[in-house]
Amino acid sequence: MQKTQIKIGFVTVSDRASRGEYEDLGGPAMQAWMTQALSSAWTPVARLIEDEQPLIEATLKELADEQGCCLILTTGGTGPAKRDVTPEATAAVCDKILDGFAEQMRAVSLKYVPTAILSRQIAGTRGSSLIINLPGKPSAIGECLEAVFPAVPYCIDLIDGPYLETNDAFIKGFRPKHAVKKG
Ligand code: MTE
Repeated sequence: MQKTQIKIGFVTVSDRASRGEYEDLGGPAMQAWMTQALSSAWTPVARLIEDEQPLIEATLKELADEQGCCLILTTGGTGPAKRDVTPEATAAVCDKILDGFAEQMRAVSLKYVPTAILSRQIAGTRGSSLIINLPGKPSAIGECLEAVFPAVPYCIDLIDGPYLETNDAFIKGFRPKHAVKKG
């Protein structure tokens, strides 16, 4: 039996990085973190785009609906600056908002920086895709993912996505005992 192909989307939202004014460090940082976290084989689908709400929405839809990414991580555009619209775009394309992800990411982030309260990052589901916003600072990526990732594989089970297995020495996914392992 052929296993479902696991695709993970990485969206860097940054006017300056998309214009080439500086290197996109966030996209590679998200991919590097996921490489350590997952023992299942997966394929990245990466995008680097400007802080434009319609473009962010279209990119999230493409990764979820056409590419079939079970998990989509965004980085950047979550703050209060006028061009920051990633949470609005995410909310516009999601069917359900998972408030606990944002609550936990901000709570943990506050242990690192007092400015963590400036991030309006959210998470939610669109069909069988889980979308999680991360702040733009590369160090924030690991800080936030470490806080919420244990719940990600089971969340993806619940939305009928593929069965993700973790590298437990790096981060251990948690599933309730009754959870059924899918082939
Ligand atoms: N969260 C963590 N874990 N670490 C950080 O360094 N930076 C904060 C906040 N959240 C930060 C963080 C800062 S300074 C800002 S302005 C907001 O995220 C929004 O960042 P963004 O607009 O690049 O998404």
